[in-house]
Amino acid sequence: MYPEYMMESINKVERTRPQRLELARKHGKMIYPRMSEEERETVLNNYHPDYKKESRREVRVGPNKGEILTTEVADIFESYGRVNKEMFNFDKVDYETDVLIIGAGSAGMAAALIASEKGSDVLIATKLRLGDANSMMAQGGIQAATQKDDSPATHYLDVIGGGHFDNKPELAKALVNDAPESIKWLEELGVMFDKDEDGSMTVKSGGGTSRNRMHSTRDYTGAGICRVLRDEVFNRPEKIKYLEYSPVVELLLNEKQEVSGAIIYHLDNKQYSIIKAKSVIMATGGFGRLHIRGFETTNHYGATADGLVLTYRVGAKMMFMDSVQYHPTGAVFPEQIVGFLCTEKIRALGAQPVNCDGELFVYPLEPRDVEASAFIRESQGRDLGVKTPAGLVGIWLDTPLIEDILGEGTIEKMLPAMLRQYERFGIDVRKYPMLVYPTLHYQNGGIEINDKCETNVPGLFVAGEASGGIHGRNRLMGNSQLDIIVFGKRAGLQASNRSNDIQKVGKVHMDHIEKYNAEVAKLHLPKSKIAPMILPDYIPDHVKAKQLVSEYSGTLI
Ligand code: FUM
Repeated sequence: MYPEYMMESINKVERTRPQRLELARKHGKMIYPRMSEEERETVLNNYHPDYKKESRREVRVGPNKGEILTTEVADIFESYGRVNKEMFNFDKVDYETDVLIIGAGSAGMAAALIASEKGSDVLIATKLRLGDANSMMAQGGIQAATQKDDSPATHYLDVIGGGHFDNKPELAKALVNDAPESIKWLEELGVMFDKDEDGSMTVKSGGGTSRNRMHSTRDYTGAGICRVLRDEVFNRPEKIKYLEYSPVVELLLNEKQEVSGAIIYHLDNKQYSIIKAKSVIMATGGFGRLHIRGFETTNHYGATADGLVLTYRVGAKMMFMDSVQYHPTGAVFPEQIVGFLCTEKIRALGAQPVNCDGELFVYPLEPRDVEASAFIRESQGRDLGVKTPAGLVGIWLDTPLIEDILGEGTIEKMLPAMLRQYERFGIDVRKYPMLVYPTLHYQNGGIEINDKCETNVPGLFVAGEASGGIHGRNRLMGNSQLDIIVFGKRAGLQASNRSNDIQKVGKVHMDHIEKYNAEVAKLHLPKSKIAPMILPDYIPDHVKAKQLVSEYSGTLI
């Protein structure tokens, strides 16, 4: 339950609620004016973490050398490899496959299903277990223009508007055009989408979208989708094999400098294996566990940007790696769930963000970067947030309004995961608001691909959050669940097509890492600076000082 001093602020929220409820009844979502383009620019420039000078710096090695990237990303690119070629005999290959898929979230598993249907033998190598990924943790929904008043063209305009018109057009086009078919594909596989009483899809809006096109399975849409894909992978043991607890630590090239396999490290027995493949799909997800600018994250424990590092070293170009998404509503109280996602669907259902005095201060569904910046302005710039006992600050998300607007029982029906997340700590969000603050949520940029998921390096395909260009510099809600399906399927198809045309992979090597290490060495960085990180290092300094160091940390070995 909330401490007494917070209850005083909650009392103010309760006092302003009837008036805000009346507004909502009269004006629907338009309870607060949307910002003009100029106002958006101002709040972004002044409060979005990306726009702070220290957030970005020039990267000094690799294909994007000389470009300005997010500081923590530049830092991991300027790292040595974990392994070197002397450790391996490349004549002795442990696994051979047509398509190697690295990562087993929804993008990787969708790719596996399609590649196997096209006749390829598939091997998935994943850091933890199948489905241990951001995909599984997604809550709010998946966008697709399936309704009569909507179209892929309208969806496209929302996608590029949200992305500040920076999106790679061919990718945004593929995303929206494949969307309705993707929903059908998922439903046929067994995903139980929410339906209205007449059997039609329940669709809601999200931040920055002009139509109701968010399809959901309650507030655990990611799990609703990812579990079905995983079951389907389990159903095809003849064509799809998988290795769990087996992160990839380096990619392999062949004599034609095509990506042709990988080295994996088995976390259980601490051995390495060599995999040879005709095509490789990188589907390792995002970078939340880099805790950029010290932010808490909604991301999975394994989200350490490994795919970016490995592909960068073989020469893959990155796109928009200067852009980070902070989700406006991460939990800040109670302390046990700091950084956890409080889905945007909460605002889509009518919850309003209010300050410590119970005042509404922003249109609740601005694009994410704008909404998050407005939250930071209110709580830090204007000092109208609510402090927590742990010294954090947040603003209220007035959830009881949802039931006032949509009727009793709505939260239990539409947001059961949220209800449970707070009930465990004695907070009933049907009666009391949630305290929230922006949390590191998504890697807007990533490895540059075309609409066939090809990179500039032959043999290397990318799907899902590891890729860049689809969402420009700001993704809208629900388009990530969509992109992992659309581009997962496309990657599976293209990688399989390529593999079908290849007779022989040839001899594999990892000479590129020697060259890369030499480039890093010119920066005079300590040899202990290694990547990929594999798992985040949360060991406190006083423990490290006693030499009890993390085996998988990127900074210690
Ligand atoms: O708020 C959410 O449920 C997050 C969705 C997303 O990032 O797409």
